[in-house]
Amino acid sequence: LKRSFSSSSPVAGSIKNVTVIGGGLMGSGIAQIAAAAGQKVVLVETNDKLLHGANSRIHESLKRVAKKQFKDNAAAGDKFVQETMSRISGSTNASEGASSADLVVEAIVENMAIKQKLFADLDKAAPAHTIFASNTSSLSITEIASQCQRKDKFGGLHFFNPVPVMKLLEVIRTNDTSDDTYKKMMEWGQEVGKTCITCKDTPGFVVNRLLVPQLAEAIRMLERGDASPRDIDTAMKLGAGHPMGPFELADYVGHDTTKFILDGWHEKMPDNPLFKPLETLNKLVAEGKLGVKAGEGFYSYK
Ligand code: CAA
Ligand code: NAD
Repeated sequence: LKRSFSSSSPVAGSIKNVTVIGGGLMGSGIAQIAAAAGQKVVLVETNDKLLHGANSRIHESLKRVAKKQFKDNAAAGDKFVQETMSRISGSTNASEGASSADLVVEAIVENMAIKQKLFADLDKAAPAHTIFASNTSSLSITEIASQCQRKDKFGGLHFFNPVPVMKLLEVIRTNDTSDDTYKKMMEWGQEVGKTCITCKDTPGFVVNRLLVPQLAEAIRMLERGDASPRDIDTAMKLGAGHPMGPFELADYVGHDTTKFILDGWHEKMPDNPLFKPLETLNKLVAEGKLGVKAGEGFYSYK
């Protein structure tokens, strides 16, 4: 977040124009931090209403950042918000939106075929030097890139929710990602204020490969009747120092997302007991109790 202060200074690295595809929860956060770091951002959504929604989300989040970072100078805070917003433009056409991008970060729906199609189209439309990156939580970057020519300019940039707050960025190299692309992705991550770690293109990278089985194990504890969600959450917060317990975090991430990740890994690795389907999770998803965003999950948010 400190990087946000450099909002008026010129961007030092080679990436100055960023196109973010998908303005949902993650994409709006990614657009926000890139713009706050002084970059020109094009945010692509499927229609104007969703673009408008993304803009409002970014505006609200920037106001929270400004309130904290400029607490003694409201005018400077307002200026920061206005200047950052002015660097973000919208588009409903991904190919047009990426026509002058140095970097494209994709944060659309977690679906392999849809991501592959998007990048195959962008590969034809974007300049030759443009680096492509996916923010996928659980899919293979190599597979997403498989229909592109520029496999050397393709990698993973995996952010965490809420993007403006969480300090980590996982930078993923496939076997084809060039040294130059990797170096530029790492530099860009630092420019947008994140601490970068590197991981191979393995399922879940570092964080989700450890986090998702932990959420699943917590649900198994509940299914066995070992302890209540409230007690398991309290235990992990006070006994392990986690900011949220596993049930709070599962509600925060969304049960559809966790189920999608687990089901995908179970299909690929059926012998791994950590990825076995969970009756409780399947039931919550079937009932639409997806967590915070639905107003109900393990807890009620109404
Ligand atoms: N934009 C800007 N600022 C925000 C924000 C947002 N969207 N959300 C929170 N903040 C800021 C607040 O302004 C607040 O700042 P101050 O403390 O200076 O006032 C600070 O962040 C803390 O927020 P809150 O007081 O509202 O709440 P909190 O202290 O409970 O923290 C939390 C909220 C940061 C989410 C914290 O509970 C946390 O770290 N939880 C764990 C989150 C996590 O594990 N995320 C990863 C999920 S997995 C994932 O993302 C990967 C995947 O692929 C699925
Ligand atoms: P989301 O549903 O909030 O947002 C996705 C957005 O993409 C939607 O607004 C949708 O309209 C838009 N979209 C879909 N297809 C599009 C297209 N072809 N062109 C332009 N926009 C399109 O989802 P999200 O939670 O932001 O997740 C996005 C990606 O980030 C997924 O791959 C997810 O796995 C990954 N991710 C999610 C989290 C998380 O905690 N939610 C964390 C890290 C990574």
